[in-house]
Amino acid sequence: MAAKNTNMLSLIFSFIILGLAHLNLVNTLSANYYDQTCPNAESTITSVVKKAMLNDPTVPAALLRMHFHDCFIRGCDGSVLLNSTGKNKAEKDGPPNISLHAFYVIDNAKKAVEALCPKTVSCADILALAARDAVTLSGGPTWDVPKGRKDGRVSKATETRQLPAPTFNLSQLQQSFAQRGLSMDDLVALSGGHTLGFAHCSSFQNRIHNFSSKQSVDPTLESSFAASLKSVCPAKNTAKNAGANLDATPTTFDNRYYKLLLQGKSIFSSDQSLINSAKTKALVSKFASSQQEFQKAFVKSMIKMSSISGGQEVRHDCRVVN
Ligand code: HEM
Ligand SMILES: *[C@@H]1O[C@H](CO)[C@@H](O)[C@H](O)[C@H]1NC(C)=O
Ligand SMILES: *[C@@H]1O[C@H](CO)[C@@H](O)[C@H](O)[C@H]1NC(C)=O
Ligand SMILES: *[C@@H]1O[C@H](CO)[C@@H](O)[C@H](O)[C@H]1NC(C)=O
Ligand SMILES: *[C@@H]1O[C@H](CO)[C@@H](O)[C@H](O)[C@H]1NC(C)=O
Repeated sequence: MAAKNTNMLSLIFSFIILGLAHLNLVNTLSANYYDQTCPNAESTITSVVKKAMLNDPTVPAALLRMHFHDCFIRGCDGSVLLNSTGKNKAEKDGPPNISLHAFYVIDNAKKAVEALCPKTVSCADILALAARDAVTLSGGPTWDVPKGRKDGRVSKATETRQLPAPTFNLSQLQQSFAQRGLSMDDLVALSGGHTLGFAHCSSFQNRIHNFSSKQSVDPTLESSFAASLKSVCPAKNTAKNAGANLDATPTTFDNRYYKLLLQGKSIFSSDQSLINSAKTKALVSKFASSQQEFQKAFVKSMIKMSSISGGQEVRHDCRVVN
């Protein structure tokens, strides 16, 4: 009888563990993961990121978006870094890859880290650290990144369809984040990543041409701002690189994005939708009026997003599986 109860208990316990693992809540990452095996990994990555951004100020935005994209498809497993192979089209060659660039920065960091401690530091960890550095070096907060991610062996272009689209409304965004264990609070804080970088016309043209059968322009857009977007992105836009910065200070990690959002000067429908519920609007207002509150919330949510697990090996070359 006692044995039976013990079995029953362990069965129940296994189910709980399995359930947690499935929800990616089993946290095997730690801040001091490489303390013994590669103590200089972080400083090495930081200097590679610093050097790259001095040459090209668009690098930090690219690294932050790359990490987000990585974590949302198959967990933070470096799948976004893999090259296509003969029979397989990889994520980076999938349709919404328009802003993905600066993969060379991760390659350079990996090379430098491999020279110090071969086959030790995963590409997924390098990307998570580089994204943190991108934020910090752009004037944003810093934080300890939990480490110990493993790299995945699968990357499929078709799966990038699972990324949230810039045309999403609040309930679609909520669903996309909830599927990854992220809350509405996380959604509002992480959307603040749009304090850095740039968007191509194709990502927001739904708001400025043929918005609805009644209005050609999204009425929530401030009118002079809408006019300026229309002038850089005419209906029959042919300039491949045309587009707009995501906020007025696109290389500074600040709370400007939220201030502009409240003025109808955000770029995507998905940004604008954050003020469509009282709860999310209150958060937007809080972050618009307090840089500190934004930074605190962003760090908390970044650690949550960057802990979504996946992967099983430490890749030797970030572009190919072992
Ligand atoms: C909430 C759902 C999100 C949607 C719908 C979304 C959508 C987009 C789109 C469409 C672009 C522009 C692509 C282009 O036209 O070049 C973009 C850029 C960007 N996104 Fe998001 N994003 C979301 C969340 C995030 C998150 C969570 C982060 C990071 C914390 C992030 C960071 C960035 C950055 C930094 C850029 C600029 C990239 C560059 O300039 O290279 N986004 N996003
Ligand atoms: C991956 O693809 C890039 C760009 O297409 C190419 O330059 C690079 O040599 C490839 N790397 C590997 C290891 O296949
Ligand atoms: C995006 O995908 C296209 C088409 O598959 C590909 O030619 C291009 O190199 C990709 N861009 C990046 C940055 O990987
Ligand atoms: C959001 O979009 C979905 C899919 O188009 C739609 O079913 C839903 O009603 C929309 N929700 C709101 C609040 O507009
Ligand atoms: C907007 O809709 C009209 C009528 O349906 C069409 O003729 C026009 O090409 C559309 N414009 C764009 C930019 O899609």
